[in-house]
Amino acid sequence: MIRIDDRLAAAASFVRLDRRICDVGTDHALLPCFLCEQGARDIIASDVNEMPLESARANIEKYGFSDRIRLIRSDGLAEIPPRDDVIIAGMGGELIARIVGGCTFVTSDTHFILQPMTRAEHLRRFLYGNGYKISGEKGAYSAGKAYTVMLVTYTGEKRGISDEFAYFGKCADPRYIMKVNGQLEKLGRSDPSLLRIIRKETP
Ligand SMILES: C[S@@+](CC[C@H](N)C(=O)[O-])C[C@H]1O[C@@H](n2cnc3c(N)ncnc32)[C@H](O)[C@@H]1O
Repeated sequence: MIRIDDRLAAAASFVRLDRRICDVGTDHALLPCFLCEQGARDIIASDVNEMPLESARANIEKYGFSDRIRLIRSDGLAEIPPRDDVIIAGMGGELIARIVGGCTFVTSDTHFILQPMTRAEHLRRFLYGNGYKISGEKGAYSAGKAYTVMLVTYTGEKRGISDEFAYFGKCADPRYIMKVNGQLEKLGRSDPSLLRIIRKETP
């Protein structure tokens, strides 16, 4: 059994295994290998850098999934053919927003599974301002840190969002809420107006 951490497991739980999948910024390709173990048959594992692709290749061969996982070197989605489910995990929110914004094959059936390490509020503002919506968010806790994983679809309706939604989104995980509260407290020391509107009670 391939072991992945809670953060990647949360991302995997949103993926439709019978669809055409792409893991952008795959690094070690552990997530694509795990998805194959769960039954996925058509995955592209991509990365912009050659070194991660080498480690991805080694893992794909080690686990025997070379017939189901194709490796493509690509900056974001630039070289990726149409896919149904696109995972972008372990990158900053601004980079994830740029990669989603460069997608040329999006339809109302495309699922983006997004896991920002930083600037989640920027990513949520970008998504809603560009016709995407967050269908669900799930908290994850790995190596002592709280994360959120978003399931995102395209509606075409562009709208603004509140500061509170930008910072907390739809994630109800108490550990994630505590983390964001902590970030806001730090921000509030330099800009107290942020604390006026946002600080969530943990459920
Ligand atoms: C921290 S690792 C995350 C690996 C894995 N997705 C995870 O969440 O554990 C980030 C990976 O994204 C890749 N990356 C950075 N910028 C990228 C881009 N513009 N397009 C594709 N991959 C990128 C890096 O080379 C690196 O392998």
